[in-house]
Amino acid sequence: MQISFTLNGRPVSVEAEPATLVSDLLREQLNLTGTHVGCDTSQCGACVVHLDGVPVKSCTLLAPSLQGTSLLTIEGLAATAGSNGLHPMQEAFREHHGLQCGFCTPGMVMTATALAAANPAPTEAEVRHGLEGNICRCTGYQNIVIAVMAGAAAMHAKSAGE
Ligand code: FES
Ligand code: FES
Repeated sequence: MQISFTLNGRPVSVEAEPATLVSDLLREQLNLTGTHVGCDTSQCGACVVHLDGVPVKSCTLLAPSLQGTSLLTIEGLAATAGSNGLHPMQEAFREHHGLQCGFCTPGMVMTATALAAANPAPTEAEVRHGLEGNICRCTGYQNIVIAVMAGAAAMHAKSAGE
């Protein structure tokens, strides 16, 4: 079937089997491999994207559900980067060592930006609660939490300065 939606700000129309997972559609048909697949069973959060502004696990969505929606992936987020080439949340992860292998990072950043958009100054407890659906096997989470708090502050400082 033909599915038309907005992807990272641009209209797209793709042919896909109705049972295609959105994570597979992104990676295998649209070559957007920044969305990672760690489990395919809605556990790890590596595949988080924003669907109409809401963070969702793309391995839990079927391609037909994209019809008429607006989808943002980590590539689209990065395209809104500042002069250093990184979105403020990505920069905060870099600066505060919020990653080691990086496998979980796209999903973490997508969850974190949605959290920060809804809550400009999340507490540590709010960040930890907000990241409950995202698993990291490397970092022990502490630096991720610090990065998300710093990234949220940077996002809102940037939007206040615009
Ligand atoms: Fe989607 Fe793990 S791949 S939650
Ligand atoms: Fe390796 Fe999170 S940095 S899984």
